[in-house]
Amino acid sequence: MPLSALVLALSVVGLCARGTAALRDEPAILRRACPDYVAYASAPHAPYSGGPLNLPSQRPATECRTFNSSLVEQVIEDVTSRMIDKDLAQLFRNAFPNTLDTTIRWHVDGSTTAARKGKKDAQWEGPQSFVVTGDINAEWLRDSTNQLANYQALAKRDESLYNLILGAINTQAEFVIQSPYCNAFQPPPPSNIPPTSHGQNDQVHPAYEPSVVFECKYELDSLANFLALATEFHENTGSTDFLTNRWYTALNTLLQVLDAQSQPTFNDESQYITNQYTFQRTTTLGTETLNLAGIGNPLNTGTGLIRSAFRPSDDATIMGFFIPANAMMVVQLKKTAEMLRSAGGSSNSDLAKNLEDRSTRLHRAIQDHAIVNHPKYGNVYAFEVDGYGSHILMDDANVPSLLSLPVLGFVDQDDPVYKNTRAMILSKDSNPYYLAGSAFHGIGGPHIGLENAWPMSLLIQAMTSDSDDEITRCINLVRDSSLLGLVHESINVNNIRAYTRPWFAWANSVLAQTVLKIAAERPALLFGEGARPYVP
Ligand SMILES: *[C@@H]1O[C@H](CO)[C@@H](O)[C@H](O)[C@H]1NC(C)=O
Repeated sequence: MPLSALVLALSVVGLCARGTAALRDEPAILRRACPDYVAYASAPHAPYSGGPLNLPSQRPATECRTFNSSLVEQVIEDVTSRMIDKDLAQLFRNAFPNTLDTTIRWHVDGSTTAARKGKKDAQWEGPQSFVVTGDINAEWLRDSTNQLANYQALAKRDESLYNLILGAINTQAEFVIQSPYCNAFQPPPPSNIPPTSHGQNDQVHPAYEPSVVFECKYELDSLANFLALATEFHENTGSTDFLTNRWYTALNTLLQVLDAQSQPTFNDESQYITNQYTFQRTTTLGTETLNLAGIGNPLNTGTGLIRSAFRPSDDATIMGFFIPANAMMVVQLKKTAEMLRSAGGSSNSDLAKNLEDRSTRLHRAIQDHAIVNHPKYGNVYAFEVDGYGSHILMDDANVPSLLSLPVLGFVDQDDPVYKNTRAMILSKDSNPYYLAGSAFHGIGGPHIGLENAWPMSLLIQAMTSDSDDEITRCINLVRDSSLLGLVHESINVNNIRAYTRPWFAWANSVLAQTVLKIAAERPALLFGEGARPYVP
């Protein structure tokens, strides 16, 4: 995910500089106790695992953690006490709470500002949660939904987690209302945390307010993730507390974007029409801006697909009909419809019907325009298409990806087209971004470059596999490349010690989700022969 290595380096320097300034007048004990987590995560800490890799313990000191949950501590204890592999147990111990430990930059439970239930009409009323990606002090819609996915199953039993996720839905709704085309956001005004800048001078339409928006790359999956945060919460808790006027306004705003981004480049009279969204950055990196003066490549009319200007890696799409995000939108529109229907009421039922129709049409559009015949693998899903018949066959590690389609709920793992696609994208001969070297291999992407594969892709590979052997190989590769006890963004395929992003919360959440899925479905792999399944 985000930003070039250069920007990342600058922002890390920025964080350190701010940290030093803020702490200058504080007692020495505090300065020592709560170091900047980028620095903390970059060096190993005791106690060590005692396994062959002797992985370090990387949780911040208790008083430095950004959120506490005794239920999360209980899950860590339940899982790690049974795990045979001490290094993998240490990785889970660090990774599972990483979002709570380090990224809840601001949270209010709402009890003082407004009733938690009922009709919330005003901005920033009720519970709110600002969840940063890690080393950058901004919230990505996609990252934060995935970071919290870990805790959804616990929210029903832990009121503090319930309020944390409810707050995150409310906060995302404010972001979507304000700037539905944007991917990353600044701390909310009531937090009084100052905004930061990524230092780029972007020309974007529609214009945005830089005190609210950190970056404004239009990524269709950001909006699907806004829906996913609520549908997952509803599935796990049965709650409809987030169905406020603000949330409905956000949903309406989202639907307007879907309509605008379903428009082709040329109208029925063959006249060129400018897309509502354009983005230009002054950069030497082709993936960080859109060609044709910020418009992106032409897309054909009548496909029913929805454009995405950027990918979940924050790299520009080559062809704007990016299929994994369309697939995620199919699923989330349908789940949102089901959720609204279960909430009851005639307006919810009308809205549900509208969303269901959109989902059905979009699903058909994918079947009609995104399945192509590959000479070796047969029918496969394309990564991107343009509606003119051109397509791109590849996969990128970032989720939503083609590899993750079953995890997203779009297809069954046994779906024949998915199986063909999976075989294609896990092959070095067919996926240009399947990267392999002497030390590491997996799917990468253009974002970090051609020598770095991403642990996240191996975790998704494990979650979409039927084979104990493949699952074990993937997990072990991630374990062996996480020598600082946390999951990184990417790993150099020839040198496991060369990695990007010491503090990348999303990847740690995916590790935890993978371990919990194996614990529930294949307990023997973690706990030994004959072990009972573990479900938190
Ligand atoms: C978490 O608990 C520790 C120990 O009780 C405390 O020092 C810290 O302030 C708590 N953190 C939050 C965010 O509540």
